Parts: sequence; structure tokens; C-alpha cells
Amino acid sequence: MKDVQGKVAFVTGAGSGIGLGIATALAQAGAKVMLADVEQAALDKALAGLKKTNADVEGIRADVSIKAELQAAAKKTIDRFGKVHILVNNAGVTGGGPYGAWTDASWEWTIGVNLMAVIWGVEIFGPLIESHREGGHVVSTASIAGLISGSSGPYSVTKYGVVALSEGLRNELAPRGIGVSVLCPGIIRTNIMDSTRNFPGRLGETPSFTWSNDDPRAEFMKQFRARIESGIDPLYVGELVREAIEGDWPYIFTDTEFEPQIDARFAAIKAGFDKIRNRTPRH
Ligand SMILES: NC(=O)c1ccc[n+]([C@@H]2O[C@H](COP(=O)([O-])OP(=O)(O)OC[C@H]3O[C@@H](n4cnc5c(N)ncnc54)[C@H](O)[C@@H]3O)[C@@H](O)[C@H]2O)c1
Repeated sequence: MKDVQGKVAFVTGAGSGIGLGIATALAQAGAKVMLADVEQAALDKALAGLKKTNADVEGIRADVSIKAELQAAAKKTIDRFGKVHILVNNAGVTGGGPYGAWTDASWEWTIGVNLMAVIWGVEIFGPLIESHREGGHVVSTASIAGLISGSSGPYSVTKYGVVALSEGLRNELAPRGIGVSVLCPGIIRTNIMDSTRNFPGRLGETPSFTWSNDDPRAEFMKQFRARIESGIDPLYVGELVREAIEGDWPYIFTDTEFEPQIDARFAAIKAGFDKIRNRTPRH
């Protein structure tokens, strides 16, 4: 897609953070945008802000981890704008916690929002994008944690899944005129650290990942929260996503901070092949 101007985009998790940054950047470049979010108040605020700039935007409240709500959001997009060209699967939560803190509900929540919603987004919006033969683009928000795993927690598991899905779909959808990018942000200034505000009551009690002061994880979380609070501007990320759609980038990084860790992972994988190459069988 050479230019997003005049195109129709559907963005999930658009009420806050990176999703709002993407919706804003697309709208400022002349795209029509349907914003979807589970949080009505955040959605209303985002829409009111965008409408002041004369952007052609609309909103729908949807829990993307419920397939029927995503289907209803797709229908509303077509009813309002007639067609859709760009899908941005962005809604996400930091659920799960590390080994020792897992619960079934927390896995279900994290997998539902971060991975199943992305799979369903492609399943529901793919045919709608294909139908008008004008081409389109799918962007899914993974994370640097989709390429390096600090722990084996549910968050990283889902983000690796989003990277895998996007890499495969890029080959599958290219002949159908649809570009695919995976967004792997570093540390962005958003409300991600307060994700449990959206934990659904249907899954039971809201998980709490707080540790006693003498637990090293408490200090780590404190420092990580501080990093997020002074992180990269989400509107800059939105601008990068617009550029990436128009330039058909496979991977969208926001900065180079974690490149050495990714190099180290690839080196460890390569060393695994070296072990096999250099192995001497026992006789
Ligand atoms: N902030 C970062 O540093 C960072 C880094 C890497 C990846 N990410 C990813 O970026 C994406 C956006 O997160 P963010 O950092 O902007 O956080 P955020 O909390 O500011 O925004 C997330 C948005 O998703 C919405 N949402 C949550 N659950 C939902 C659901 N079930 N249905 C619909 N909407 C839902 C929230 O209401 C919120 O508006 C996520 O996928 C996250 O994993 C963020």
C-alpha cells in the first residue's frame, strides 16, 4: 500500500497507548479509522480528541478476546465505512506473571487478548480486505518479548505466537495483495503496567502480581514501571507504523535498545547447530 490516505483502518486497543498513537497517526495521514477498545471511557476520550482534528473516526466497544464481539466490530466497520483496508491487531495485556505465579485464569486472559484475538482478527478481517481487491495491510503488535524471552511467562509465549503468525502470513497473504508487518516495540510510555484494570470478571478474581519488598521481583517491577513511564512516545510509534504500512516493512522496531540481546539469542541458536555439526558419535 503506497498511501494510507483515504483508506479504512480498524485498530484494536485504540483507547490508550500504542493503539491510540497508531489511530492518531493514521487519521492524521488521511485514513478513516474505526477504534475498538474494551474500555468505554478511554475510547470516548480518544474519539473526542481525534474528532477535534476533523478526523473521520468512529468507535466501538469490544472485548477482542470474545470472537462474537470482534465479528460485531467488523460489521460496524463495514456499515460505517463501506470497506476496510488496514487491520491493526494491537490490544494486549501483561498478564500471567513468572513461574510460580501462574493461574489458569491468567493464562486464559493473556492468551485470549494477546493471541486468539490476533488469530480471529486475521480470520474475520482477511476476507473483508480481500473482497474489494484494492489491497490492504495487517499489522499485529507483538513485542521485543516476542523475540527474546526474559521469562517463560504467558506474555512472552503469546508474543512469540504473534511473531510466528505474522511471519507465516506475510508469505501466505502477499499473493492476495495484503502486506503483513509485526510490530515489536521496545519500551513505550503507555498504561501497560496497569493492564489488570481490564481483567474480565467472568474469569474470576483479578490477579495481583505484587511481591514483598525483600523479593528481587518487587524491585525489578518498580524499575520496569519507571522505565515505561519515561518510555518512547506512542505517537512516534504510530508514525513508524504508518511508514511501515506504506513501505511494507516485515518487522517494525521502535529503537535498537534490545538488538544485542536478539543477536545473543541468534548466536545461542547457531551454537546449537554447531554442536550437531561438530558432534563426535560414540562407538
Ligand atoms: N508499552 C510497551 O512498552 C509495550 C512494549 C511491547 C509491546 N507492547 C504491546 O503494545 C500493545 C498495546 O499496549 P500499550 O502498551 O499501548 O498498553 P495500554 O494499556 O496503554 O493500551 C492497551 C489498550 O488495549 C485495551 N484492551 C485491553 N484488553 C482488551 C480487550 N480484551 N479487548 C479490547 N481492548 C483491550 C486497553 O483498554 C487499552 O486501551 C499491547 O499488545 C502490548 O503488549 C507494549
